Amino acid sequence: MKILVTGGLGFIGSHTVVELQEKGFEVVIIDDCSNSDEQVLNGITAITGKRPEFEKIDLKEKDKVEDFFKRHQDVAGVIHFAASKAVGESVEKPLLYYENNIGTLVYILKELCKKNKASFIFSSSCTVYGQADKMPITEDAPVKVAESPYGNTKQMGEEIIADTCKVTPGLNAIALRYFNPMGAHPSAEIGELPKGVPQNLVPFITQTGIGLRDQLAVFGDDYPTEDGTCIRDYIYVVDLAKAHVVALERLLDGKNADNYEVFNVGTGTGSSVLEAIQSFERVSGKKLNYKVVDRRPGDITTAYADTTKANEILGWKSEYTLDEAMKSAWVWEQKIRD
Ligand code: UFG
Repeated sequence: MKILVTGGLGFIGSHTVVELQEKGFEVVIIDDCSNSDEQVLNGITAITGKRPEFEKIDLKEKDKVEDFFKRHQDVAGVIHFAASKAVGESVEKPLLYYENNIGTLVYILKELCKKNKASFIFSSSCTVYGQADKMPITEDAPVKVAESPYGNTKQMGEEIIADTCKVTPGLNAIALRYFNPMGAHPSAEIGELPKGVPQNLVPFITQTGIGLRDQLAVFGDDYPTEDGTCIRDYIYVVDLAKAHVVALERLLDGKNADNYEVFNVGTGTGSSVLEAIQSFERVSGKKLNYKVVDRRPGDITTAYADTTKANEILGWKSEYTLDEAMKSAWVWEQKIRD
């Protein structure tokens, strides 16, 4: 069965391609390589022994999207990762984010609506909850006003899919709301490849550990948490990739309760920034150079998932601990700087 993975050369996309191939799916990747590298195909092939089909397409080019689906009538499902994801950049360039994240989503959905039957998995984010009132966060927690155009594209994306599913009986979709993905494949053949200065905590930690950055800035230690730093739910990228496969199988097997469903994907455990640093120090045996600085505007204090729905309905559960995931990120960082 053929599955289209958009953004399949990216961080979460590439790990998901591996899990799909290992389950016997045939994969075709679309990626424009704007924030990824064609070399990732070699990493995927080294792990699975099978080179996925790849087409370099910019999904903003509607004609090319139409043409792709004409040539690949046998695509049974789409996992749609391709999107821009830098929160700060989205504030500077909102239209870029609306065009990249919303325009392309609409083009793909239009093609899926032409089919009798299609399954669609959407990369959403816990950012839709903003600072939730209750922890852990369940899927029925209210969606808060988005803090950034990026966050807004995730909220709008979910609404666009839900509205489309309502009037398209053959279209079945699941939105996965990720918490904080991290780590690399245990083979160290694929992992996170941030371009430029990393915005996210874990790649900044490992790049500081390896000496590429002098110092990690810890954004604030005066939050109302036990150690004063923000709390997040760090989910191992391979666990997250597996959640996509089980969600897709649920749709393909017709086991979904509704034709649009939403699931949190996290571990259910919150870790502070200082705990993440301690984890790095434990698994690497290195002291990390860090300094507490002012808060980063827009950061929420605490977010961790209630994973009951994914555990019980998808039958999925995260398996890796923070230390195991951190170790994989560190092994990867050492390998790519070799
Ligand atoms: N942090 C630092 N120093 C850094 C980077 C991050 O102290 O150099 C802190 C942040 O303040 C935050 C935590 O580490 O407390 C995690 O920050 P990340 O940037 O790694 O992750 P966020 O939770 O801010 O953002 C992630 C995704 C976004 C998504 C958001 C949803 O990267 O795409 O979760 O809440 F929108």
